[in-house]
Amino acid sequence: MKLLMVCLGNICRSPLAHGIMEHLANEQGLDWEIESAGTGDWHVGEGPDRRSTRTAREHGIDISKQVCRLFRISDFDTYDHIFVMDKSNLSDILSMARNDEDRKKVRLLLGDKIVPDPYYDDTQFEPVFQMIEKGCKEIIKQLT
Ligand code: 4NP
Repeated sequence: MKLLMVCLGNICRSPLAHGIMEHLANEQGLDWEIESAGTGDWHVGEGPDRRSTRTAREHGIDISKQVCRLFRISDFDTYDHIFVMDKSNLSDILSMARNDEDRKKVRLLLGDKIVPDPYYDDTQFEPVFQMIEKGCKEIIKQLT
């Protein structure tokens, strides 16, 4: 199974989702491939935001080697599921979908809730971590 985590910058939320899902999948012995991407290109080639890296490290997860990249149309072919953080990610990705098969792969990581962007608020990284971890556990339940 191949899963792609998507947010706006690919430096705060989706790197956390990538690292957390990879960690949980490994713990459960699932042979899943996890990646992440962004819809905006400002940080392409950079590592994750330090606040995300630190928060993940506090939970025993190393995301420091991830590299920011843009979402590309071929991701619809590569991945079985594409999880987005908020409604604007959802509409951005859906606007690139070519057909219903593409559209069916895309959904909010938290199902009916959004993961808010913590970029402008240092205090939100830990709550965002918790939300994403809960969402990832729920997804593992659904997909296994
Ligand atoms: P993310 O947060 O979408 O969770 O990675 C953001 C990071 C950077 C920017 C926006 C959102 N930015 O505008 O640079």
